[in-house]
Amino acid sequence: MNSVVSYFDGIAPTWDTKIKVNYNLIGKILREVLKPKHKFTSILDIGCGTGSLFPLLLELLKEDGTLWGLDPSTKMLERASEKFNDPRIRLINAFSENIPLQDETIELITVFSCFPHLEDKKACLKEWLRVLVPGGIVLVLHSQGREKINSIHSSLPAPIKYHLLESAKNVAKEAYEEGFLALETQDDENMYLVLLQKP
Ligand SMILES: C[S@@+](CC[C@H](N)C(=O)[O-])C[C@H]1O[C@@H](n2cnc3c(N)ncnc32)[C@H](O)[C@@H]1O
Repeated sequence: MNSVVSYFDGIAPTWDTKIKVNYNLIGKILREVLKPKHKFTSILDIGCGTGSLFPLLLELLKEDGTLWGLDPSTKMLERASEKFNDPRIRLINAFSENIPLQDETIELITVFSCFPHLEDKKACLKEWLRVLVPGGIVLVLHSQGREKINSIHSSLPAPIKYHLLESAKNVAKEAYEEGFLALETQDDENMYLVLLQKP
């Protein structure tokens, strides 16, 4: 099995006790950065894990909308399905490099605490462009700064110790080269954010 997937399968049962999600802060960022004028019809949460971001994403979703949670770790998805029974949530066991969704069907993609784990970032950017509707948004987000994330990852076993986050400006540049508009970056001690839009 893929060693990244085995790692996350292994920590899935205790993941929720290990992380502290600052829902107030992240909710504020989602509202400020996305400035949603209306609720979304379709949201895709890449590397959703146990669904840490789902409570906030459901608030942004229409009553008849769909929140897709994608993750290659079946154990993470099992925990997510135990925690949520909202009929708008659909879980997909897949890699972001190969998303089993149709072209131009997603309005918002969130990549929360997941970007450094993506093995082939270029392939992911291409897939995000494919599944997004024109004007659709990608939000790459960490609720800690790059230095903190990288120091945590460096202290963990392989392969995670090699999953280091590049600067937000570099990620925006790579995304721009693939065809995205880079709308905003933030890379400081409290926050890491890259906001992209499909033209
Ligand atoms: C650090 S966890 C974050 C989980 C969740 N977003 C959260 O914040 O609680 C990273 C997640 O990314 C997933 N992941 C790893 N490689 C991936 C890939 N290539 N495509 C999609 N998800 C991936 C892992 O299985 C894991 O669940």
